[in-house]
Amino acid sequence: MKTLLTVIFSLFAFTCSASGKTELMHADIDLSDNVSLKRGAEHYVTYCLGCHSAKHIRYLRIAEDFELNEDVVLKDIAPVGASIYDSMLSAMDKHDSKRWFGNVPPDLSLIARSRGSDWLYTYLKSFYRDNTKTHGTNNALFKDVGMPNVLWKLQGEQVPHYSDAENQIISSLSLARPGELSPSEFDTVVTDLVNFLDYVGEPAKLKRQQMGKYVLFFILILGFIGYLLKKEYWKDIH
Ligand code: HEC
Repeated sequence: MKTLLTVIFSLFAFTCSASGKTELMHADIDLSDNVSLKRGAEHYVTYCLGCHSAKHIRYLRIAEDFELNEDVVLKDIAPVGASIYDSMLSAMDKHDSKRWFGNVPPDLSLIARSRGSDWLYTYLKSFYRDNTKTHGTNNALFKDVGMPNVLWKLQGEQVPHYSDAENQIISSLSLARPGELSPSEFDTVVTDLVNFLDYVGEPAKLKRQQMGKYVLFFILILGFIGYLLKKEYWKDIH
């Protein structure tokens, strides 16, 4: 049995490495961290909203959910001129973007649900220099992606190392030129962004997690009352 398992596992490991698939990194996100969520929303507006809408979310909802004053949301998060009732809409014209990037940048409201947070985290950290591409970059997780590396100033420039140069199979990326942030500061930026996208994918999750605590508390109290009642009823019988 043990040998069989070892064989199965090693076969699995072999197929993984042979296909040259990028392993996903873990996104250490925390939906209860309002400070991280707010930073993520700020980064989203600065670095992503130019091309990607997140039309399912309004600035007002952000204010309510992150427990922020509406003025703070308008000043720190929303783009200049936006109203608190606006959705997170991008001003990018669909036809222009198709011409510039070959593809229309999708709305990112549900991206965390379709791709998962680990995928998003790995994607944002997997851009590398590729002079054969129009934008000078490529992505190890999403080959030939039409999106430029919008965070390169913060991260710096990564270069690929190949395990199989002929078939362009990348084994790792390394930082060839440092950016404005240290690697760990950059990781925080990406984590905050993914945290925010995860929230946008299902804003009710935040409420549900908070609600869960109250429900547990309620059940405990109810159980305690039940226990007292039971004691009371059975007192005369024993
Ligand atoms: C300059 C325009 C531009 C900016 C700014 C931009 N993107 Fe993109 N993004 C694109 C385009 C174009 C695509 C479609 C790429 C394709 O399909 O080849 C894309 C694709 C994506 C995808 C993959 C969607 C899929 O197909 O699963 C994700 C995730 C994404 N972008 C996230 C982000 C995030 C997060 C930011 C901000 C940090 C950002 N993008 C900023 C243009 C942009």
